[in-house]
Amino acid sequence: MSGITSTIASTIASTDLSNVITNGIQVGYLISACLFFVGIKRLGSPATARQGNLISSVAMLLAIVVTLLDLNVVNYVTILGCIAIGSAIGAVMAQRVEMTEMPQLVGLFNGLGGAASALVAIGELWRYFGTANSPDTGGMISILLGVLIGGVTLSGSLIAFAKLQGMISGAPVTFPFQQAFNAALLMSFLIGGGLLLSGGLNQSMFLGTIAISLLLGVMFVLPIGGGDMPVVISLLNSLSGLAASAAGFVVGNSMLIIAGALVGASGIILTVIMCKGMNRSLTNVLFAAFGSGETATSGGATGGSMSGQSVKTVDPEEGAMMLGYARSVVIVPGYGMAVAQAQHAVRELSDQLERLGVEVRYAIHPVAGRMPGHMNVLLAEANVPYDRLYDMEDINPQFETTDVALVIGANDVVNPAARTAKDSPIYGMPILEADRAKHTIVIKRSLGTGFAGVENELFYGDKTMMMFGGAKDMLTKLVAEVKEL
Ligand code: TAP
Repeated sequence: MSGITSTIASTIASTDLSNVITNGIQVGYLISACLFFVGIKRLGSPATARQGNLISSVAMLLAIVVTLLDLNVVNYVTILGCIAIGSAIGAVMAQRVEMTEMPQLVGLFNGLGGAASALVAIGELWRYFGTANSPDTGGMISILLGVLIGGVTLSGSLIAFAKLQGMISGAPVTFPFQQAFNAALLMSFLIGGGLLLSGGLNQSMFLGTIAISLLLGVMFVLPIGGGDMPVVISLLNSLSGLAASAAGFVVGNSMLIIAGALVGASGIILTVIMCKGMNRSLTNVLFAAFGSGETATSGGATGGSMSGQSVKTVDPEEGAMMLGYARSVVIVPGYGMAVAQAQHAVRELSDQLERLGVEVRYAIHPVAGRMPGHMNVLLAEANVPYDRLYDMEDINPQFETTDVALVIGANDVVNPAARTAKDSPIYGMPILEADRAKHTIVIKRSLGTGFAGVENELFYGDKTMMMFGGAKDMLTKLVAEVKEL
């Protein structure tokens, strides 16, 4: 009798414990989701972005710890071992990556996220093979979505990574009837998925749908030029979020569903912001095979003339005089500044100019550089105060009253052709109106074109002076000259 009593007591106790843990996990997920919301909100401004990153990281840590409390976890050693290996690899990669290589790193991580979600979906269906059971319709749809979106994200991200890393040509790869071929692939997936849904759990059919998903990802990214990869990566980021949500439905995990939906939504918002910044539609980016994939850098210091026009040049000594005796200077950083890693020299120049009483502001174009927020991140790294950074809409009306606009390694984002040349590929793209300043100094190595491959009439303008040379070198010389004033 006492044996039965103690069994009942221990059953009640374990049921209580299991309830407490289940409820605790849900509360943990709720707190974690709230922290994710706050973190993302804080990421919206450079001033609070670091804090946003920290809050989101804490939210992720909490979500992982809470998930590990689940009584259904079967093998802690494997999980903790994998977390240790993954964290070590991630930490080393994050330490080593150059800011200019960030898009491909993000691309690679997106791909791995897609792979993880696809593997969850595959694992879930795999355990039904050889049994008389099968998932219900909702479960099967979640599995198929996880495989499709996760597979496309994995292979598409790997191709995007290879293009940006220069492992394969960045040029768009196109062939006749490409869209029809892609449509046929998607149709095959749908037919395979439909057959699996209608009851026949067939291993070969399932493997076929996995292979088609992977092929679709490759076919999706191949026709897109290397220069548009940041947009593609942002879109794939969004897809990796949707894949995670699908995986969340597969394993019934609300945290995964919420976090995936957040990634999906923010990725698509970022994609739209980038397209607007280039005045191009998403369909144009995905299907127009824009750009050769290489940043054109034609001509030497004096080469690359626009219908025989000549340019005025300025050396660092004269440039320093113009800047040092100005009342207001607006600095326009671009991709060239990022490549040259000249942000610290820019900061030093601003400090010296401010010492002389010059008002220095920075004009930030939404797609300057090669990834969203590229310029903000670099300038933040050099401790440029946030209140000196001005968005395009705020700074453009101020150029007319600015004494000197100093353009550093920027090209397309200051090209007046976007305003005037209706036949130009960049016509309609919003630009920073550096040409409207009283004087404009442009630091770059040649008259070569930028990402869009379009000549820039700004360089030939009456008020423009070209300072030919690498950004870091020229800025270092400018700083030395300004110090003498
Ligand atoms: P770009 O138009 O690409 O021009 C950069 C210029 O930097 C080049 O003309 C190059 O001229 C110069 N440069 C390169 N290395 C340099 C160095 N070491 N020192 C000095 N100058 C150097 O850059 P941008 O104005 O920042 O425009 C960004 C472009 O990327 C836009 O067309 C945009 O649509 C595209 N894009 C951006 C994004 C995002 S999210 N940021 C995404 C997709 C596409 P030289 O060779 O003569 O020096």
